[in-house]
Amino acid sequence: MKDYAGPIELSLRINGETRRVQARPGDSLLRLLRERLGLTGTKCGCENGDCGACTVLVDGAPIKSCMALAVECEGSDILTIEGLRGHPVQKAFAVENGFQCGFCTPGMILNAVALLSAHPEEDEEADREWMQSNICRCTGYEGIRLALASARRSLKD
Ligand code: FES
Ligand code: FES
Repeated sequence: MKDYAGPIELSLRINGETRRVQARPGDSLLRLLRERLGLTGTKCGCENGDCGACTVLVDGAPIKSCMALAVECEGSDILTIEGLRGHPVQKAFAVENGFQCGFCTPGMILNAVALLSAHPEEDEEADREWMQSNICRCTGYEGIRLALASARRSLKD
């Protein structure tokens, strides 16, 4: 049994690579990614579970990494924005102007990847509900809506 009183070594699979890293018992997955692994594409907005900027996929499911303890993720498969280079969803966000500030965008793209895997067919209601967990404070969601539609088409081709 692991002793969680002090720093512990965790083994995680991140973007297809096994990484061993020291973590404190109270470290969030967000802090582990950014501060210990240098994966700063995952952003810290509120650190309170509200904004979605820190969204990553853990075993395929979108989670807000500020709300997950790193130790809970031992042995999990984690996908961050760094692991998505050239992905159709990322391209669609760029082409359709689905991003503005770039701060919220990594989390939105990861959440969109999970959405399109769960709902491969056109479903605007599912899109609206699913993407509610990612807040954009700068403009609106039209570009994001177009990016989702475009990504769905690309994923089918
Ligand atoms: S930083 Fe995690 S939800 Fe805002
Ligand atoms: S994309 Fe970041 S506030 Fe709108």
